[in-house]
Amino acid sequence: MKILGLETSCDDTSVALYDSEQGVAENLLSSQVDLHDQFGGVVPELASRAHLVNLLPLVEHLMQRQGLRPGDLDGVAVTAGPGLVGALLVGLSTAKAIARACEKPLVGVHHLEGHILANALTADLVLPAMCLVVSGGHTELVLMREVGRYERLGGTLDDAAGEAFDKTAKLLGLPYPGGPHIDRLSVDGNPDRFRLPRPLHKDPRLVFSFSGLKTAVRLEAEKLPRPYSDQDIADLSRGVQDAIIDVLCQRLFQAAKQHRVPAVYLAGGVAANQGLRQAVAAEAERRGLHFVPPERVYCTDNAAMIAYAGFCHLAAGRHDGLDLDSFARAPLTSWR
Ligand code: KG4
Ligand code: ZN
Repeated sequence: MKILGLETSCDDTSVALYDSEQGVAENLLSSQVDLHDQFGGVVPELASRAHLVNLLPLVEHLMQRQGLRPGDLDGVAVTAGPGLVGALLVGLSTAKAIARACEKPLVGVHHLEGHILANALTADLVLPAMCLVVSGGHTELVLMREVGRYERLGGTLDDAAGEAFDKTAKLLGLPYPGGPHIDRLSVDGNPDRFRLPRPLHKDPRLVFSFSGLKTAVRLEAEKLPRPYSDQDIADLSRGVQDAIIDVLCQRLFQAAKQHRVPAVYLAGGVAANQGLRQAVAAEAERRGLHFVPPERVYCTDNAAMIAYAGFCHLAAGRHDGLDLDSFARAPLTSWR
């Protein structure tokens, strides 16, 4: 089966081809980072317009590179939500038009399921497993019973982990999105200089809170001379990175223990964080749990994960009608 995937939920326009015989045949991305950087965050209307300009040319490029004609496709998968509705509508309308023209099934994918199943693009899944989904908009613990059967066990009470990275990076004058910059700079930072809070550390629930971290960083930053030295930025980046990783790891393994699963997974943009990947790998090994970090290209938003999730649904006989709607937010377990 050859499935075309489209992803336009936020600021990345991505198209991919998943081929059940050979895996991901193509995964193309047109990033809008430069467009939004000047505003310090994603501007929804600009994102929609950029998707409108870039999406179909990207699809055409993919079809040409693969030497495919529309009739060669077996289905079209598209992110239906959650995300920016205007941005999602561009992907959804395009996917419907292609599916209709090719007379092939359309399948809507929940963006978080795409992130979770991206793990299967790296190695065969070991299930049941505990998956920590950490992105710019989500921080959730999901029990994966099997492909298509998930249970949300907890999540953030305020900001998402990616948001915490991005907001603190902004405070430090780093470009958007800040996560990769903090990750890179923290390597040269002193881990003992800034000891930032680990919110809800003693709370027995499977919950996270990151909104206080920004304030803690701001208070530390205010004490520093301006402009910040490279060392100050590296040390504060290290402090933030370590604090976020500590809380994420603690909850992931707490949930894994409670549910006695043999494997843990990471998903979403923050799963690309080197420190987090190393910390989870070390702890998983210590506890004898299976863990393979997802390839970094499949952590941040990409259409390969959507095409693959679409393939799983189509293979299980599920697809959607041309009346499929988009949604800004809805739980992974009950969005249809
Ligand atoms: O999954 P994603 O591409 O988009 C959403 O669905 O939100 O995640 C984007 C988030 C941003 O907050 C970005 O700063 C963060 O992922 N991110 C990282 C890293 N790479 C991306 N955060 C920490 N370390 C990274 N290396
Ligand atoms: Zn995402």
